[in-house]
Amino acid sequence: MRIDGQPYRTIFPDADGISVRVIDQTRLPFAFELQRLASLDDAARAIRTMVVRGAPLIGVTAAYGLALAMREDSSADGIDRAVAQLAATRPTAINLRWALDRVAGNLRQIQPAERFGRAFAEAGRIAEEDVANCRAIGNHGSRIFTDLAREKGRPLNVLTHCNAGWLATVDWGTALAPIYVAHEAGVPLHVFVDETRPRNQGAALTAFELNGHGVPHTVIADNAGGHLMQHGQVDLCIVGSDRTTAAGDVCNKIGTYLKALAAHDNRVPFYAALPFSTIDWTLNDGVAEIPIEERDGREVSHLTGRLADGTFATVEVVSPGSPVANPAFDVTPARLVTGLITERGVCAANPEGLLTLYPERRQAA
Ligand code: MRU
Repeated sequence: MRIDGQPYRTIFPDADGISVRVIDQTRLPFAFELQRLASLDDAARAIRTMVVRGAPLIGVTAAYGLALAMREDSSADGIDRAVAQLAATRPTAINLRWALDRVAGNLRQIQPAERFGRAFAEAGRIAEEDVANCRAIGNHGSRIFTDLAREKGRPLNVLTHCNAGWLATVDWGTALAPIYVAHEAGVPLHVFVDETRPRNQGAALTAFELNGHGVPHTVIADNAGGHLMQHGQVDLCIVGSDRTTAAGDVCNKIGTYLKALAAHDNRVPFYAALPFSTIDWTLNDGVAEIPIEERDGREVSHLTGRLADGTFATVEVVSPGSPVANPAFDVTPARLVTGLITERGVCAANPEGLLTLYPERRQAA
């Protein structure tokens, strides 16, 4: 994607060949700044503090983090320690574990001296594949938009939650990729962007992306979606996923489930877009089995924003002394999901649908 005419990815190797640069997402939309990650600790901190976030992107960052760790300690114990540290940063998105397993599996086959180079190259391949997968998700998903726009004979109103755009991946995004492809193809559409409290990824990041791309959009309070659906103002919902079970349950940013319930009640199609690395084939019951990250209550009790004079400020918004809770994700059961959009196509959110797209998993199932 382009910022001020310059092509950017959310993460890319630095010219020195021994570190990576990432866009600092804690500063967006008000400041566009890059951070350099040069060590295991840098990568782990960037993921934990959400300098980088979004399931596919934290997977790629973890892969690079494991590579950077090999410059510090390339022994077998060094691999184990780095994997443990990176895996502990955020528990819900399975892409992180998937990327670590893939890179670590490679490293265990080779001599310590070769490990940094191999891991850095493998992380680069994961990043390239993520771009290709997201682009393919965009192509498959855009057909849904084209067909629906033709059927309605007017601009489509789409609702999305959180940020599942290029900032959440390496480029393109998952839920926003079909929107970008459809928009570029001339399909008239408008996006309702849930603000996505407590961290406001919708208001800050999705709106920033859509602004940059010239996609018509309106930011709404999280609680507005149900009302809009009741009044026929939403034609389709599309979200990303941090972990999707073999049964088609979709775990995504907190609040996604409520949107799916409202969509179901109002017969609004509800799609989740995700690459294969988001599917956890070992799980069937998402509500019971997916670990939900519990984040710092300060994200609920405080808000950070820009003041009129351009400086940043953090203000308290909850009655002092009141306890707060901050579960970061929820699970939308497969029965509420119209379809899953993956790099291989669109399928029903159920075991058979997923196995049709990924027949190589049949044996394992
Ligand atoms: O807590 P975040 O900002 O990492 O949560 C991100 C989301 O919930 C996205 O919707 C999800 O990772 C899918 S990203 C393509």
